Amino acid sequence: SQNIYILGIESSCDDTAAAILHNGKILSNVVATQAVHKQYGGVVPELASRAHQQNIVPVIHQAITQANIVKKDINAIAFTRGPGLMGSLLVGTSFAKSLAMGLGIPLIDVNHMQAHILAHFIEEDAFEKPEFPFLALTISGGHTQIVKVSDYFQMEVIGETTDDAVGEAFDKSAKILGLPYPGGPLIDKYAQSGNPKAFKFPKPKVPELNFSFSGFKTAVLYFIQRETKNNPDFVKVNLEDICASIQYSIVGILMDKLKKAVKHTGINRIAIAGGVSANSGIRNALMEAEKKYGWKCYIPKFEYTTDNAAMIAIAGHYKYLEKDFADFSITAQARYKF
Ligand code: KG4
Ligand code: ZN
Repeated sequence: SQNIYILGIESSCDDTAAAILHNGKILSNVVATQAVHKQYGGVVPELASRAHQQNIVPVIHQAITQANIVKKDINAIAFTRGPGLMGSLLVGTSFAKSLAMGLGIPLIDVNHMQAHILAHFIEEDAFEKPEFPFLALTISGGHTQIVKVSDYFQMEVIGETTDDAVGEAFDKSAKILGLPYPGGPLIDKYAQSGNPKAFKFPKPKVPELNFSFSGFKTAVLYFIQRETKNNPDFVKVNLEDICASIQYSIVGILMDKLKKAVKHTGINRIAIAGGVSANSGIRNALMEAEKKYGWKCYIPKFEYTTDNAAMIAIAGHYKYLEKDFADFSITAQARYKF
């Protein structure tokens, strides 16, 4: 029987993360979030790479300590090669290379977006793994994709955003409402007690399985400008209803395309991944779709939805099984398609 310990390292955006997996099971999963960006209303790339530089050693040290192992137990090191911010990726990539070289163990490159999907394969007693083939709706602050997943590393993007990501639609709408960054979780929170049909936002017309969200935030901006002109307290008084309506509209856009993708591929197993899959609106819509359309939906645990290193380690685990190792000359890639 196998005894595989993988160290995963994630540094693609503003979270420095490290995790140890033993045969696909989590021994430790450490994330250091960077508070420094909050005051700027978004991630500042230069500040992100500096914070990674400060965090990476303590975060990895903590992951190894919490896992109750020693460095020489580790079989391979998996790291995020991209996509992401170059200055951030360089920190994790360089560190992974150096440590793998120092320990004399294989290095494994991981695509961050594939890892979000593969988070569903982390060994968890209470969670069912998706059966191939399935469709993954990958929704985060940087990406919005529908992916046809035929095997662990056989993935095809069949739809994606032509401009903003869905997380940006949440965050930018929240900013217009005066909420702090990242506003997605706050919209979700206020939406719980609001009327989703109080206000109506137009659905963008985008061909095929693609998305567009840049017009959505503009529609929210114009709507708020128009309403506050007559009533300066409009946002304050209607915050719950506005948030519920924004969330309802965004979830509607995602569900329309998912229905189209199911029809187009004949696959009705759906897994959601990425930070926005923490959203209660999309989770409820999918649970409803199970009853209404007979879909099988896979909803990940909260801690695997936003950026983490356990997902990088599980991707590394499956590459390790295939002996799919990286050369030490490998470089980070800000735009990294699969
Ligand atoms: O995957 P992630 O942690 O980082 C990226 O790779 O982008 O996703 C972060 C995004 C942010 O836009 C954040 O606002 C959004 O996920 N998000 C949510 C919720 N939780 C996180 N959006 C809506 N509702 C939530 N509950
Ligand atoms: Zn992500």
